[in-house]
Amino acid sequence: MNSLAKITAHGSYVPEKIMNNQDFEKIVETSDEWIQQRTGIEERRIANEDEYTSDISYKAVLDLQEKYQVDISDVDMIINATLTPDYKTPSVASYVQAKLGLKNAGALDINAACAGFTYGLNIANGLITSGQNKKVLVIGAETLSKITDYTDRGTCILFGDGAGAFLVEYSEDETSFIASSAGSDGDKGHNLYSSELSETMFGEDLENPGYIVQNGRGVYKWAVGNVPKIIEATLNKANYKKEDLSWFAPHSANARMIESICDRSGIERDKALMSLKYYGNTSSATIPLSIDLAVKEQKLKKDDLILMVGFGGGLAYASTLIRWTI
Ligand code: UT7
Repeated sequence: MNSLAKITAHGSYVPEKIMNNQDFEKIVETSDEWIQQRTGIEERRIANEDEYTSDISYKAVLDLQEKYQVDISDVDMIINATLTPDYKTPSVASYVQAKLGLKNAGALDINAACAGFTYGLNIANGLITSGQNKKVLVIGAETLSKITDYTDRGTCILFGDGAGAFLVEYSEDETSFIASSAGSDGDKGHNLYSSELSETMFGEDLENPGYIVQNGRGVYKWAVGNVPKIIEATLNKANYKKEDLSWFAPHSANARMIESICDRSGIERDKALMSLKYYGNTSSATIPLSIDLAVKEQKLKKDDLILMVGFGGGLAYASTLIRWTI
């Protein structure tokens, strides 16, 4: 008997408070024009002071349940991808497990920054196909506003808060998962970090403890050079060509960067699904939020071939080539 893993539902939640580019003109030396031209971002959502990653993760799962009327009472594993957990311990996933009252679910957080959601999906596929689990919730959620320095114009205009969730279930006859790749260039990790203490990394001093620090140019160059290789490697594993793709769902950090990745990879720009225009860079949540928007816009059809590529802090990456099974 086959043990296959199938995506059966998805949901999302974003905080109500909106911060648009004009709001940033009032707090740092920037302009709506600069932000739109360099990033494509128009607005982002900001969590309330007492709203944490577990709260928005929970609400994304409620949305999933409401949209698809799926029974999640027998979920046996919750994977929360996040770099902004409420606490070091308990995990966000444990909070979500408690809030949902899922008595039989294991719970763990993973941190692969912006690649967290695609790592999480691939782990869920492995848990189900190996027979360990039958119903897994994969959540990508961040409250990046809590670690953003709103005096640093180079980073504060980029980040936002949001959550997305997928339900991955055991199936005997249909799989969503076709091929995946993952890796990390850890020696370049100092290009994007958030440290609680002022320390050094590979001999370099770390700045601004408690907040996100990014060498935007450095990450940009790495991404446009490497993501096309990840795309190629993942497609090759399954003997697919770029032309076979229905959609490309990369980590939604910067529209210019994604266009450049598309051009270098020979993927038509209008196949790229993005969430950054409305939500900014929400790290592990960008990909499920892009998928959610695409569903709302009625772009996705059953059996569409979608390549998701998460990349960022680490500098780590993970891709997953899926067949849309909803
Ligand atoms: O999610 C994790 C992965 N992260 C990424 O994928 C991020 C990749 N990188 C990027 O998206 C871009 O590098 C940024 C959007 C972060 C920055 O854009 P850029 O075109 O690379 O700008 P830059 O950092 O090279 O800065 C160019 C100029 C600088 O001024 P000078 O030194 O030329 O006078 C900056 O100080 O733009 C200035 N600048 C700004 N000006 C107005 C930086 N931030 C701003 C701002 N408003 N908000």
